Amino acid sequence: MSKPQLITLTDPRSPAAEAYRTLRTNLTFAGLDHPIETLVVTSPAPGEGKSVAAANLAVTMAQGEHRTILVDADLRRPVLHEIFGVSNERGLTTMFVDPQARANPPLVEVGVENLWLLPSGPLPPTRPTCWAPAGWRKLSPSCAPGPTFFSLTPHRSLRSPTRQCWG
Ligand SMILES: Nc1ncnc2c1ncn2[C@@H]1O[C@H](COP(=O)(O)OP(=O)(O)O)[C@@H](O)[C@H]1O
Ligand SMILES: [Mg+2]
Repeated sequence: MSKPQLITLTDPRSPAAEAYRTLRTNLTFAGLDHPIETLVVTSPAPGEGKSVAAANLAVTMAQGEHRTILVDADLRRPVLHEIFGVSNERGLTTMFVDPQARANPPLVEVGVENLWLLPSGPLPPTRPTCWAPAGWRKLSPSCAPGPTFFSLTPHRSLRSPTRQCWG
């Protein structure tokens, strides 16, 4: 399946892919004393490249043998499932409402070793109350063990949810 936005897969020798590897190296050195387990990719406005950057960084981390979960925490305009060409039937929002999904997160294999995607899941019809810190905290235990690197791409309106969830 073609994944045109994943330059780290489609053209690993490109300058852009090399830049992601440089970023991976810098993150590795930045985490020497306190390894970085969670990384949030965010920006002030939509359309600025958060999802594409998070996806390529996650691929690059996985290629560097970091077990990686990429979480689509943008509950307004989730696109990571489209970028990877996988289903969005179950995901982050499923974990808010289904205790079994919290115990066994619906991670999706994307065809890259060491990388799993947690898609956003179906979007609630109204502004989700699960954005409250308590909702995010519920997720923390189920995702704490296992993969060592998380890359989340929240919408800018999610004010620091990941600190409460994963930090
Ligand atoms: N580095 C880039 N160069 C050119 N286009 C890009 C780049 N990063 C993202 N885009 C394009 O910009 C649009 C928005 O990117 P996206 O990652 O979805 O933004 P965000 O997640 O910040 O809303 C997409 O069509 C994407 O293909
Ligand atoms: Mg996005």
